[in-house]
Amino acid sequence: MPPIIQISEAKAYVGQVVTVRGWLKRRTGKGKINFLRVRDGSGIFQAVAFRPSLGDEKFAEVKKLTTESSLILTGEIKADERAPGVPGGYEMAIQEIEIVQIAQPFPITPKEHGAEFLLDNRHLWLRSDKQWALQRVRATIIRSIQDWLDEHGFLRVDTPLLTPAAGEGTTTLFEIDYHGIPAFLAQTGQLYNEANIFAFGNVYCFGPTFRAEKSKTRRHLQEFWMVEPEIAFCHLEDLLEIEEQFVSYIVQRTLQERAHELKLLGRDTSTLEKVIPPFPRIRYDDAVAMVNEAAAAGVTVPPKDAPVPPMTWGADFGAPHETYIASQFEKPVFVTHYPTAVKAFYMEPDPDRPEVCLSSDLLAPEGYGEITGGSERMSDPEKLLAAIQREGLPQEAFDWYLDLRRYGSVPHSGFGLGLERTVAWITGIKNVREAIAFPRVLGRISP
Ligand code: 4AD
Ligand code: MG
Repeated sequence: MPPIIQISEAKAYVGQVVTVRGWLKRRTGKGKINFLRVRDGSGIFQAVAFRPSLGDEKFAEVKKLTTESSLILTGEIKADERAPGVPGGYEMAIQEIEIVQIAQPFPITPKEHGAEFLLDNRHLWLRSDKQWALQRVRATIIRSIQDWLDEHGFLRVDTPLLTPAAGEGTTTLFEIDYHGIPAFLAQTGQLYNEANIFAFGNVYCFGPTFRAEKSKTRRHLQEFWMVEPEIAFCHLEDLLEIEEQFVSYIVQRTLQERAHELKLLGRDTSTLEKVIPPFPRIRYDDAVAMVNEAAAAGVTVPPKDAPVPPMTWGADFGAPHETYIASQFEKPVFVTHYPTAVKAFYMEPDPDRPEVCLSSDLLAPEGYGEITGGSERMSDPEKLLAAIQREGLPQEAFDWYLDLRRYGSVPHSGFGLGLERTVAWITGIKNVREAIAFPRVLGRISP
């Protein structure tokens, strides 16, 4: 019996007869030769059916194969640098073919489909080359995130998804019924992470988070994954150094390990190669001035080439502002010291200038917007209580959080990196919804 291999392993079996199990992407050719483009999840290659080697009967069966038919192929692996596929360069000369199922006409064809049709058929759309490459890049990004943190002294401690109060603003809460008590899906694990640093030192949580965003944009999901490192005895400047090391590692490792996938996606990787520390740092004040200069000069930004709108000090940036600011730098840029009023209640105000806080957003190049949000946390119990009251949050639900400032309070900082935005940026796709297998966007919960 020939060995059963994965397409990704073809290189090691050149000249040998092997078995591959997978699905047909496309069948082409005529006369006595048919080319089968086959994928098995690990890779894509071409298998060649030649009538004289298969016999007339088997060859007639091959010609009945439709897109997505499942098959088991046995044949010799040949090296040919022109052979298409991923990794490419290897093909199979079929000796035997077992048809597992002839698929019904597949709804997704090489012609262009509308976005809603594709989302309705997300369970089938995932089989396309592009979606396949995206999920493989995502898996590598996840692995890089965990490896970097694990190797830099962070302990992974998971935080709850069912929570009694808002962590990140009351306007985007998903409310649920917790046996008669109102509860919410977690917007962040941060507050629990803050408790964890006092027990475990530096920690991170990594999992799904939920935001009832009322708008449908190319940067927002209702359910997205976030990794949140939290660091004790850490000020804003220390935090930015950690962030730039972390983000650069993720990008550089993905470039190394997923070159085939990024090529298949048509990603221009030259901009990503520049993502190495240090990243530029600018203050919110200067960013607002930059925006207003651009607005006065009538500068426009992609994707719609809309003019950059002017803004007043104190407002949060809109997507065109972030795109413009990031376009002024080759690397991701930190924007720090946002107005206290536009940021979360727990952020430490700047002691010299309390109207701004010790916060930082990292804006990715090429219009991908904010990929991390972080800050130094308020460490004084009195100030924190006042902030909770100002925000109108239920004080009882935050009593435990105030305890963290009563028993050995320390300056501490942390950030959250949005996984789907990071995947979208690194892969160069237009919309975050393709960065997750089954996206949750406004107005859609299925499949
Ligand atoms: O800036 P955010 O809201 O920060 C927090 O939640 C903090 N508690 C994190 C922390 O300090 N531990 O969200 C962090 C990141 C954003 O920079 C963005 O990348 C992503 O999460 N994000 C979203 N991604 C997709 N869809 C949404 N609706 C998102 N909201 C935030
Ligand atoms: Mg933010």
